[in-house]
Amino acid sequence: MTTNSNNASQLMDSLCALLEPSRVTWSSTDLEKYGKDWSKHIQPSPLAIVFPKTRDEVQQLVQWARHHRQPLVPSGGRTGLSGGATAARGEVVVSMEKMNHILDFNPIDQSVTVEPGVVTEALQNYVREQGFYFPVDFAARGSSQIGGNIATNAGGIKVLRYGLMRQWVAGLEVVTGQGELLQLNQGLIKNATGYDLRQLFIGSEGTLGLITQATLAVTRPPQDAMVLLFSVPELDGLMKLYQSFRSQLPLLAFEMFTDKALGYVLKGSGLTCPLQARSNFYVLMELEKVSSDVEDKAMDLFSSALEQGWIADGALAQSPQQAREFWRLREDITEATSFAEPYKNDISVRVSQVPEFLLEMDGVLNTHYPDFEVVWFGHIGDGNLHISILKPGSLSSQEFLDRCHRVDELLFSLIQKYEGSVSAEHGVGLVKKPHLQFSRSPAEIELMRQIKGLFDPDGILNPGKIFDSLT
Ligand code: LAC
Ligand code: ZN
Repeated sequence: MTTNSNNASQLMDSLCALLEPSRVTWSSTDLEKYGKDWSKHIQPSPLAIVFPKTRDEVQQLVQWARHHRQPLVPSGGRTGLSGGATAARGEVVVSMEKMNHILDFNPIDQSVTVEPGVVTEALQNYVREQGFYFPVDFAARGSSQIGGNIATNAGGIKVLRYGLMRQWVAGLEVVTGQGELLQLNQGLIKNATGYDLRQLFIGSEGTLGLITQATLAVTRPPQDAMVLLFSVPELDGLMKLYQSFRSQLPLLAFEMFTDKALGYVLKGSGLTCPLQARSNFYVLMELEKVSSDVEDKAMDLFSSALEQGWIADGALAQSPQQAREFWRLREDITEATSFAEPYKNDISVRVSQVPEFLLEMDGVLNTHYPDFEVVWFGHIGDGNLHISILKPGSLSSQEFLDRCHRVDELLFSLIQKYEGSVSAEHGVGLVKKPHLQFSRSPAEIELMRQIKGLFDPDGILNPGKIFDSLT
């Protein structure tokens, strides 16, 4: 046995002394499964996977990691797309899937307290059963976990109306990189007592601490929804449609996708397109029927959009079942294109700049990816677009990535010009780390490094994610 493998086996022995053996694994199947998220281009290489059940165990794990200078990767449902939960450098993955209890529901505070491993959809369903609504929602709801949603400040399909995860976190319990347990904001609405440390942890991608409990706000359920689908011939029609409906009606969602994206979803899904006239683009819109005149007003705006030529056709879902089918046309895009190892970008600009930006971006993509299939979709009502470049069968994965990285520089320079974001909602992780400087200034990145140093002086929590530490 070499010195390294001796060290590794001593490490594993000491880990097994902390947690019962069934909650420590290093089988190759588990290392592969828990060592990565949905970002496909990074090879996982974790040392082991552990499954704590209590905050005490999380604290002990952090103390163990400090003692051995052994990096940890906090891990939820692993649905991230930027490698934030990928263990590529011999880390120990701390899976929160056994800390999956809903602990308390308080109808007066309108809040629910949960462990981090609760699956997003399970929480949504539980809250609905209590007569309330938890509005953070996205296609990965069936696998993603609340801890990960907080650590990435998850967005999704209802941000336009309800905001990001950040808005719904009323209290957080975290274990820092020094093993300290912090209770942050305790579910309070008002709390003007200095820095709101809770907010630092939201979106920190596990680099500052491990979330062991969260108190989330809930709200009243929306009224009945109307779900509409439009075909939009030209780029500039998208935001004209948005402006027209947004200014007069209560929008719950405003999503776009291209005809190419629709084509992939229709292929093999059994779904059909409810529109007579196909176009280059589609908008899926959800409206809340807050009053009886919403439907009439929506129909007026629909007719006027047709007259103006912004849309070629439109359809209103006639039943909840049909509404779900409309949504699948949008939500199934990631799944339907995954066969082509897409290279993904997730970008945003201010909503007012979307029309101008889209035209310029279209130019960059057409010039530099003339031979690649590019699938666009996203939360255009938030100024957020997902761009998936599909790998042509003729290119090796490496050749393909090299080409994509060259175009990234041009795309990100354009985003920088518009003061936009190189990662709107998918986080930075490992994948977007090289491009952080297009959206954040050197001074900001340096302050982030210093903040990490305060919470995690030994650099054991998800090191190398978001930015590289100097030490
Ligand atoms: C979506 C994911 C990819 O919007 O963010 O479908
Ligand atoms: Zn998205």
